[in-house]
Amino acid sequence: MLQGKVALVTGGSRGIGLATAQALLAQGASVVTTGIDAARLAAVQQALGPKAVAVQADVRDFAALEGAVRTAVDRFGGLDILVNNAGIGIFAPVAEMSLEQWDDVIRTNVTGVFNGCRAALPFLKARGGGWIINISSLASANAFAGGAAYCASKAAVNAFSEALMQEVRHDGIRVAYVMPGSVRTEFNSHVPGPDDEWKLAPDDVARTVVDLVGHPNRSLPSRVELRPSRPPRKS
Ligand SMILES: NC(=O)c1ccc[n+]([C@@H]2O[C@H](COP(=O)([O-])OP(=O)(O)OC[C@H]3O[C@@H](n4cnc5c(N)ncnc54)[C@H](OP(=O)(O)O)[C@@H]3O)[C@@H](O)[C@H]2O)c1
Repeated sequence: MLQGKVALVTGGSRGIGLATAQALLAQGASVVTTGIDAARLAAVQQALGPKAVAVQADVRDFAALEGAVRTAVDRFGGLDILVNNAGIGIFAPVAEMSLEQWDDVIRTNVTGVFNGCRAALPFLKARGGGWIINISSLASANAFAGGAAYCASKAAVNAFSEALMQEVRHDGIRVAYVMPGSVRTEFNSHVPGPDDEWKLAPDDVARTVVDLVGHPNRSLPSRVELRPSRPPRKS
């Protein structure tokens, strides 16, 4: 389905991003993935094979994302799909959150998405169109105590995505955001175990991304809420 297409997936060295990179590769796309941890990136490069390039690029750094986009263009001839997936969660009451923690969440989850879009847009336009898919969270709509920074960052991603969608749709660039509920990953240093069986799998989010990019040109599902179908009952 995606033969000849080129994708960039930020935060593609584990979790949802890695599953998304694998799913796009399975559909025939070439993929550039990013992350920070060099050893993990080397292992991912080995696992994904020659139609993928794993590059060290911190989404907080615009120049690094320009470099990742340039890698996609130089190695595979262009860019068609950007998945802004890299994100972090730091959870603390506002009264106890340091300025550095706040800044880290906002720079990664919000500025990181801007950086990816800003770096990719000229090349998506040069291709005559493409996709930008931003990985948000249901936390953007369901705020909770201790989640002020994270929930605000993801709500910002939603608004950013909707504005950008209207700016670039006439260039053939479709912008969507996906709001997953709990996903079984190592997010926030979590160690997945038997208690996580009810959660979404990273593959479920990856499948949503693949489904989105398979939509006919005339249609744009611009916002997807993806929930675990049977979460624990609330008492
Ligand atoms: N897990 C959930 O329950 C859940 C639910 C809803 C939404 N989400 C969202 O889904 C996205 C992926 O989450 P996940 O659960 O897959 O997380 P994860 O397992 O913690 O993986 C995060 C990925 O992002 C990369 N990353 C982190 N900071 C980065 C930065 N500054 N620059 C580049 N890469 C960076 C990590 O690279 P390194 O390995 O190098 O650190 C890793 O590849 C996030 O945006 C998250 O907010 C997650």
